[in-house]
Amino acid sequence: MAENLIIYYSRAGENYVNGNIVNLKKGNTEIAAEYIQKAVGGDLLKVETVKEYDADYYRCIEEAKKELAENARPEIKFCPESIDGYDNIVVAGPCWWGTYPCAVFTLLEKFDFTGKKVFPVMTHEGSGLGGAVNSLRKYCRGAEVGEGLAVHGAETAKSEKTITAWAKRNLL
Ligand SMILES: Cc1cc2nc3c(=O)[nH]c(=O)nc-3n(C[C@H](O)[C@H](O)[C@H](O)COP(=O)(O)O)c2cc1C
Repeated sequence: MAENLIIYYSRAGENYVNGNIVNLKKGNTEIAAEYIQKAVGGDLLKVETVKEYDADYYRCIEEAKKELAENARPEIKFCPESIDGYDNIVVAGPCWWGTYPCAVFTLLEKFDFTGKKVFPVMTHEGSGLGGAVNSLRKYCRGAEVGEGLAVHGAETAKSEKTITAWAKRNLL
């Protein structure tokens, strides 16, 4: 059986859902990542930044915009020494200004993905997979990029069936 690693970034708290600001107890991408693990097994690896983003949604939006413009690599709390034991690597994250939060790239750039398959998963409020595929091609050195999955953020909790089907199709 394939060994799966599910890397994800997710920000609980204030977010934009169907046109309104709501307070998410658990981030959408975290819910999706847990559904994937439940469906096919594997290890979860949460990307967490040393410096937290602003709790206020609009200020966070501005911070993220600036980071992307500067191609920043925010410091992260934990990074494994190696990903050698894994065949499939899911990279799940919210769409932030069209792609993953820069902290995801901080982690991805540390590894050589030769011989591994990476799968983009993105939760979003309208942008779909956005630039996720291109970002993985760029930052996962040597990887083959597999089928992506876009999940409407507001519907993540209700999307277990779709997420499970995608996971079983790609990660078993
Ligand atoms: C900083 C920031 C930027 C965002 N940019 C986009 C975007 O460009 N396109 C989009 O569809 N949604 C955007 N969103 C909405 C999130 O992608 C969406 O709510 C996602 O499901 C949040 O996932 P999380 O709860 O796991 O962090 C943005 C949200 C934030 C906080």
